[in-house]
Amino acid sequence: MSPRLPAPPVPDQLKPAPKRPGEGEPPKQPVEHGVHAGISAVDWIDERTSLSGGARWMMFRKVPKGTNWFYTLGSSTMFAFLSQAVTGVFLAMYYEPSAIRAYDSIRYINNEVFLGEFVHGMHKWGSSVMVILIFLHMARTFFFGAYKYPRELNWVIGVALLVLTMAMSFTGYLLPFDQRSYWASVVGININGTGPLVGPYLSDFLRAGPDFGATTLSRFYAIHMMLLPGVIGALIGFHLYLVARLGTTAPPWVRAKPPEALREDKVAS
Ligand code: HEM
Repeated sequence: MSPRLPAPPVPDQLKPAPKRPGEGEPPKQPVEHGVHAGISAVDWIDERTSLSGGARWMMFRKVPKGTNWFYTLGSSTMFAFLSQAVTGVFLAMYYEPSAIRAYDSIRYINNEVFLGEFVHGMHKWGSSVMVILIFLHMARTFFFGAYKYPRELNWVIGVALLVLTMAMSFTGYLLPFDQRSYWASVVGININGTGPLVGPYLSDFLRAGPDFGATTLSRFYAIHMMLLPGVIGALIGFHLYLVARLGTTAPPWVRAKPPEALREDKVAS
């Protein structure tokens, strides 16, 4: 066996060894331990991802003077969307998108599943809440002039979000597959069919063929469950990025302060 090398000399700065965090301090209470554990977990993730920079950029923004409750309508719409996404996932655990089983699976959710009627109710009423909120949010941005330069693109994305939200309501309405939802969807698809040029193709696409039936239900389910939520989620992400990038508009009654050099008293003197 080769002889062991002598240990390297300890640098002066390390004599005496520095205290470890918490060493020599009175023992921590359990709550403090919990808080510190949380902080170190967040630090651990941040050290490896640097996510806190982006989060700070998004959350700690300057907002104009006069910002009021009307500015919460966008976030409320987003909350309604998230609530729809969560309740929708629970409904999908029991719902069966088959022409024979759909109606019974909804009855099963309402009558047998624990809190099923509650979650179904939240999803059903939540859809109306989201539609009302999106219109109110759009009205706020319109009346506050927030669609003007440089926020035109965010308005256009908003319009796409509005159309997709209406498409969500339309495709979701058929899913219980009862008399009302069946005939309402037949009427809706026929109205689409009367549109110029693309109308007939659109209604064929929605029906999934010339006849309204089981394939229509599957198609509506796939669009409602996968396609639209994905696109809406991505567009909301872009919408929020632009809100953070461009800042929010001041209310129209708050006058912008002219730059120092252009102030009347300065120009006059
Ligand atoms: C799923 C739907 C939507 C969500 C989740 C959403 C979310 C938001 C949020 C959180 C804000 C920032 C806070 C606020 O001003 O309320 C915002 C701003 C904005 N939204 Fe939406 N929005 C949606 C739909 C729409 C629609 C339909 C339009 C218009 C057609 C629109 C146009 C705008 C504009 C122009 C701004 C900038 C406002 C400003 O600078 O003051 N959004 N949106």
